[in-house]
Amino acid sequence: MSISVNKQTAHSFHAQSPGDGLEITDASILIFGASGDLTSRKLIPALYLLWKEGYLADNIPIIGVARRPKTDEEFRNEFKDDVRHLSRSGPVSDEQWEAFSRRMFYQRLDISDVDSYAELKRTTEQREQEAGLTGNRLVYLATTPELFLPAVEGIHKAGMVPSRDAKNWLRVVFEKPFGHDLASAQELDQQLTRMLREEQIYRIDHYLGKETVQNILLFRFGNSIFEPLLNRNHVDHVQITVAESQGMEHGRGGYYDRSGAMRDVMQNHLLQLLCLVAMEPPALFRAKDIRDEKLKVLEALAPGQPGSIGEWAVSGQYAAGEVDGTAAIAYRDEERIPKDSRRETFVAMEVGIDNWRWAGVPFYLRTGKRLPQRVTEIAVQFKLPPLNLFTTVECEGDICDLVGAQPNTLIFRIQPRESISLSFSTKRPGMQYQIHPVRMDFAYESTFQKDLPEAYERLLLDVLRGDSTLFTRSDELEAAWKFVTPVLEYWERNKIEPQAYGAGTWGPKRADELLTHHGRKWRVPQDERKKGE
Ligand code: BG6
Repeated sequence: MSISVNKQTAHSFHAQSPGDGLEITDASILIFGASGDLTSRKLIPALYLLWKEGYLADNIPIIGVARRPKTDEEFRNEFKDDVRHLSRSGPVSDEQWEAFSRRMFYQRLDISDVDSYAELKRTTEQREQEAGLTGNRLVYLATTPELFLPAVEGIHKAGMVPSRDAKNWLRVVFEKPFGHDLASAQELDQQLTRMLREEQIYRIDHYLGKETVQNILLFRFGNSIFEPLLNRNHVDHVQITVAESQGMEHGRGGYYDRSGAMRDVMQNHLLQLLCLVAMEPPALFRAKDIRDEKLKVLEALAPGQPGSIGEWAVSGQYAAGEVDGTAAIAYRDEERIPKDSRRETFVAMEVGIDNWRWAGVPFYLRTGKRLPQRVTEIAVQFKLPPLNLFTTVECEGDICDLVGAQPNTLIFRIQPRESISLSFSTKRPGMQYQIHPVRMDFAYESTFQKDLPEAYERLLLDVLRGDSTLFTRSDELEAAWKFVTPVLEYWERNKIEPQAYGAGTWGPKRADELLTHHGRKWRVPQDERKKGE
């Protein structure tokens, strides 16, 4: 049974229009890959929250597209629990769920059969007519990457791609991975742009939808006191960490073993964070200007050290160990992972940015699975004062050290317990000048006292509004691939075995050596969970 919705008949159980002029009243949403994990864990919950907060009008249909036969009712029922379990949604009553889910429909389709899209077109048009809509469409490709091209070919053949001068719009969202290396990303782009224009293509990087990631730009360019310091004159080095305690949960082994940490996180999320912290201020806060500046950073990326790739790029793979008090098996013993897999679950790199602002400042990047905690942070470490005028004696057991000023560090904590903090030295109270390091903190939870929006909420709303600022442009994506592809090829060509690290540790020894060679060391991110306990 299908239920049609229109503006007049729908009951509203959601907030009034949020009053910021951003509510969407004329669009339909098609999700390809509607039976997948992403749809249930991220997309439908995000759409529910957007609706609940008044950003999505009652007449907007959500059409799930997948291969299995299913009724609309069955499709709706699949998501109720996912939405109920969202911390941000609060309690979801049956009435609320009913009011939201009545705009959800299911369309069976073999996405790879590019000649079979006529029915999808017909039912979409019917839904739109019933809801009084004009044919604006968001198509979300939450599918495996092999289906990206067939899906676009299918909608193109069915006449669902509006011409340049049409009044209605089509925006197609691509989940990552967008390509496997430089050549495949270029090839995919080339094929897509035969059918879609760049402004119709939204390459998602969900890190850019995170509130704290967006705040990097505001913090840098909305204040005047920090920006003059963020350059080679004052910064010693920068560390960016995207650490995860999880391994191959949710049956991800198959995907992950084709991908690895470099393609899964470094090439996209981590390099995007690097861009935001290193880019120049844009002339205007517009998509084009921001992406132009990010592109300049990516194009200026360089190996952090002369010599072979192995000297500045390190790969690791987790062995058995213990994470958070729980035993964890080795990567090679995970489901769907070959026993002799050489896939990296950890990458660390020392990179440079060859431009006037950053020349000579190392950026240390690391990401990995089965590290001690889930934490993402950017730490900008400033140079030490030129003279050590103050010292203090610090003892651990019998061993005492004379400690001078610690370097000031500016830390963007992206997650969890989102915050920005600055460490500096103060005088320890007493009769002598003794140094004591302290931290000045801005914590989201104490200042704003509300849950931050999920990345997918913001990004879906942006696509519906046609704002591509937080999406990756093709030249950015290519520049990122251009930088990491030689590293992947070097590992492949030389059959480099990733160095083993125990699950629950901060990665392989060689990653530490990247820094210890220069008298530096990785920060151990403060475990905010333990602090709060
Ligand atoms: C995804 C990767 O893009 O990002 C996952 O495919 C990773 O492997 C995830 O776990 C991390 O995202 P978040 O938002 O949990 O930090």
